[in-house]
Amino acid sequence: MSIPVQSDLSAGGQPGPGAAPVRRWLLPAGVAVGLGLVAAAAYAISYPERMPDRVGLMVEDLTGANPHPVHLVRPPEAPLSAVATLGKQLFNDPSFSASGKQSCATCHSAEHAYGPPNDLSVQIGGPHMDQMGYRPPPSLTYLYRQAPFSIGPDQGDVDTAVNLNNVAAAAQGTQRANKIAGAAPAAPAMVPQGGLFWDGRADSLQRQALGPMLNPVEMANGSVDEVSAKLEKSRYAQTLKQLFGPNLFNNHELAVSEAMFAIGRYEFEDKSFHEFTSKYDYWLEGKVRLSRAELRGLRLFNDPAKANCAGCHLSQPTRDGLPPLFTDTQYEALGVPRNPTLPSNKDPKFYDLGVCGPFRSDLVQQTQYCAMFLTPTLRNAATRHVFFHNGVYHDLKQVMDFYNLRNTNPDRIYPKDASGKVQKYNDIPAKYQGNVDVADAPFDRQYGDKPAMTDQDIQDIIAFMGTLNDGYRLGSR
Ligand code: HEC
Ligand code: HEC
Repeated sequence: MSIPVQSDLSAGGQPGPGAAPVRRWLLPAGVAVGLGLVAAAAYAISYPERMPDRVGLMVEDLTGANPHPVHLVRPPEAPLSAVATLGKQLFNDPSFSASGKQSCATCHSAEHAYGPPNDLSVQIGGPHMDQMGYRPPPSLTYLYRQAPFSIGPDQGDVDTAVNLNNVAAAAQGTQRANKIAGAAPAAPAMVPQGGLFWDGRADSLQRQALGPMLNPVEMANGSVDEVSAKLEKSRYAQTLKQLFGPNLFNNHELAVSEAMFAIGRYEFEDKSFHEFTSKYDYWLEGKVRLSRAELRGLRLFNDPAKANCAGCHLSQPTRDGLPPLFTDTQYEALGVPRNPTLPSNKDPKFYDLGVCGPFRSDLVQQTQYCAMFLTPTLRNAATRHVFFHNGVYHDLKQVMDFYNLRNTNPDRIYPKDASGKVQKYNDIPAKYQGNVDVADAPFDRQYGDKPAMTDQDIQDIIAFMGTLNDGYRLGSR
């Protein structure tokens, strides 16, 4: 299993500023396995309280530099393979849609971190480009490490720092493993994880790509045969045959499957899908300084008692030095408000319940997963203009208000019914509202409590999220 490499067990466990600053040792994996546990245990015994690294703290606060730089292991760079080069062309070619107007890139724009290029809650598609979708397109960046969908033990942040205090406290009679920034959960709760789409219904980029090709509100092809015929008539037919065999088009399923494989290879191989060129990456490596606001935002983001964002949006490199993806790739029910502007929501009986349906049907019986959606990466999130699985919010301030006020001031988040009663969790039928996360900070506050974050805190966390955008130019500040 996993062994901590960090000598510090303080909350947050962030190299540099967590809730408490951390001394990080990056050792060769073999050495770390042995030393990590020993060092961790020794540290826990000798410093039961948080032990701020005063020099580090001062360096950070005065300069914004990371006092404990790490080496990040980025994916190796190589020219695109022939298959991926073909995939890139297919990705950008609108002739494979029924309308002739829409390619993958229409909804997943390279200039917008492969997310939507506009602020619409859902995109438009279909044969006549007049159908509205059900969910906003996620960014396609940083999917290269996404495992297939599964339901298994909650691994939490075990790959990085383990907070033994939190683990011990959480083990005291709790059923559900709480999401605590920087900590591994105590009990192996069985949680849905991995997979593609907001509900995890596609397992591979290859299988995923067929979804939009045939989806009637997206590229809207009538059948696999239709897509195969288009490919056979296209200027890529020759390349397809060269790559996958001269008789490829005798088997329509196979032909389309190989084309989708090519698109998947493009998304996997092309550097633009996982650049790791954000200011935060460079800061982790000690190459840039964070501003005061960004640094404060990072601390709050990692603080398990405050924003606790890192409890689900993991912010630390793994022990092997892989850069953090800002998601634990698990599913959670946050209870975001219903989006009344979605055409599908005109029907008051329609509910998008994520893992338990209606767009996937294998887990409809597993009602404990109703209303759970995939935790998206926050890398490049600050470039988006539409947030959450139903696109209900359009800027990060609204998102932050939701996290901050959902429990303490629900009247500011949800609409009221005719009698003036606040309709909390109004996008989930009453019988499934118990699935909503009320355990993890900042959602552990009660009605009328002081919210977890001040306005200043929120501004600073938003400033920090801005450091997660790719394309930071080293040398600029
Ligand atoms: C009309 C807009 C539209 C088009 C065109 C489109 N997509 Fe998407 N894409 C979406 C939406 C919406 C989702 C989320 C759907 C869901 O969760 O049910 C999505 C999800 C995805 C995902 C999963 C991302 C994740 O984080 O889980 C991948 C991968 C993807 N699309 C690739 C493609 C490819 C490849 C094409 C072209 C073959 C394509 N898309 C065409 C709208 C579109
Ligand atoms: C308990 C796990 C958890 C915690 C804690 C958490 N998030 Fe999330 N986050 C999620 C999930 C799950 C979603 C998607 C929910 C949905 O769409 O219904 C999400 C979505 C988001 C989105 C929208 C991204 C997009 O592409 O639409 C943003 C932004 C975000 N979170 C920021 C934060 C910030 C900032 C914090 C800390 C204040 C935080 N999250 C804390 C699980 C969590």
